[in-house]
Amino acid sequence: MIHPGHIQAEAKKSRPVYVGSDACQKCHEKEYDSFMKYAKKSKSYESIERVKKGLTAEEIRGCYACHTTGYGKPGGFVSVEKTPHLKNAGCEVCHGPGELHVKTMNPQYIKRRLSIEDCEVCHIEERVRAFRYKPLIHGGAH
Ligand code: HEC
Ligand code: HEC
Ligand code: HEC
Ligand code: HEC
Repeated sequence: MIHPGHIQAEAKKSRPVYVGSDACQKCHEKEYDSFMKYAKKSKSYESIERVKKGLTAEEIRGCYACHTTGYGKPGGFVSVEKTPHLKNAGCEVCHGPGELHVKTMNPQYIKRRLSIEDCEVCHIEERVRAFRYKPLIHGGAH
């Protein structure tokens, strides 16, 4: 008999983890350069730092779901100390966890076609408001 815990461990292992935007650079230099230069996501952790004064640690953790990569998901952001490569919202917030794709270069292992639902996880007025951060600190940011 196979121990259920073993199956769980196997399932976990086969789930690709987040590797961070820098891992994409060598093969996708064009996308990488333009992302780093122009996309606010590539500096989204700084946005938290800029306004975090007066927020509790719990409130700050509430920012991570949108301002970092993969927070709360397997192989995603944990903390700046433990997962510095995932501290900003990177390529993988749109394209999904890149581990298998990076290892194999197989396009099947990375998401290409995106829909508005992929954005609305973070870009949704109600959602942002539901966190009640807007009146608190955003001052029109969202
Ligand atoms: C070792 C090289 C390598 C690395 C590292 C790499 N890729 Fe790729 N990527 C490729 C190759 C090769 C293709 C296929 C190109 C083609 O078919 O034109 C590809 C294709 C893609 C595609 C298009 C997929 C499709 O269905 O057409 C996306 C999106 C992508 N990569 C994103 C990423 C992201 C995000 C990362 C970092 C997490 C990354 N890649 C890291 C080599 C790499
Ligand atoms: C994981 C959460 C998340 C997802 C998913 C996401 N975004 Fe964002 N996006 C952000 C955050 C956070 C910012 C603001 C970064 C900052 O200013 O600190 C942002 C900023 C932007 C901006 C502002 C302009 C700029 O220079 O960056 C645009 C446009 C944008 N995102 C488009 C999209 C689109 C289109 C999608 C879906 C394909 C998407 N985003 C998916 C979190 C996300
Ligand atoms: C539900 C997702 C979500 C959460 C949670 C969230 N943000 Fe954002 N934040 C965004 C998005 C999306 C943008 C980009 C808005 C745009 O440009 O349209 C953004 C933008 C910002 C900006 C940029 C404002 C500017 O004008 O440059 C700051 C600062 C910011 N957020 C701070 C925070 C802080 C601090 C927290 C936690 C207390 C937080 N956010 C929680 C999604 C989120
Ligand atoms: C806000 C969401 C978002 C982020 C973040 C993002 N991409 Fe994309 N990416 C897209 C969209 C949308 C497409 C176009 C997909 C299509 O062809 O329909 C795309 C396409 C691509 C392609 C295929 C391009 C081609 O012409 O074949 C590659 C490679 C790629 N992205 C790599 C990256 C890398 C590397 C990063 C980070 C440095 C990144 N992306 C960050 C949304 C994003």
